[in-house]
Amino acid sequence: MDHLVSPSLLAANFGNLDSEVMMVNKSEADWIHLDIMDGVFVPNISFGFPVIRAVKRVAVKPLDVHLMIVDPDRYLNQFCEAGANNLTVQYEACTHLNRTATEIRNLGMKAGVAINPHTPVLLLKNILPYVDMVLIMTVNPGFGGQIFIKESYNKITELRNMIDKGQYNVLIEVDGGIDTANAIDLIDAGANVLVAGSSVFKSKDPAKTISRLKKLI
Ligand code: DX5
Ligand code: ZN
Repeated sequence: MDHLVSPSLLAANFGNLDSEVMMVNKSEADWIHLDIMDGVFVPNISFGFPVIRAVKRVAVKPLDVHLMIVDPDRYLNQFCEAGANNLTVQYEACTHLNRTATEIRNLGMKAGVAINPHTPVLLLKNILPYVDMVLIMTVNPGFGGQIFIKESYNKITELRNMIDKGQYNVLIEVDGGIDTANAIDLIDAGANVLVAGSSVFKSKDPAKTISRLKKLI
């Protein structure tokens, strides 16, 4: 399959959110990535439901919502109502991940599970039949603009083999420090979805950078 590009709004200009979302609408991006941080699971606070709803009003592409929050079960329904199409929870924040993923699917969203850089891919073995996507964090979650962790390539390859061997219908998303320089290697390693914040929104021509991430040039 062709890979997907999901620009992360965390690096966008929040004073001009509508026009940032409209730029993504008109670009070759496939999804819009929204990072929700609670100041507990990660040492940073981003934004919540009012901002998601504001994005949803303007966006024409699916909202790819990444929760970096403890005990996400409390809010699954509210994220759905705010407009999330994909809802990804952190493996490390869920005590009953099977129940959480099943609930996300029952609400009509695609279920994703994210793993931190220190979390081994092998721990996902028994959840793969219950999720639509695995997000491999390629930086420690909490901030945009960090340096890509190179050990991530091996994790992507390992997960690709697990998914192919088990014939699971699961996408591999990668997130953190991704730019036009490492995108090709990430796709070659087996990733299906590229999240990119700073490299898109801090570039001179964000729509063109999205196009380059999509065409891998
Ligand atoms: C980090 C977030 C990322 C972040 C990526 O915790 O999950 O989605 O926005 O930002 P960049 O692309 O700047 O590393
Ligand atoms: Zn993210």
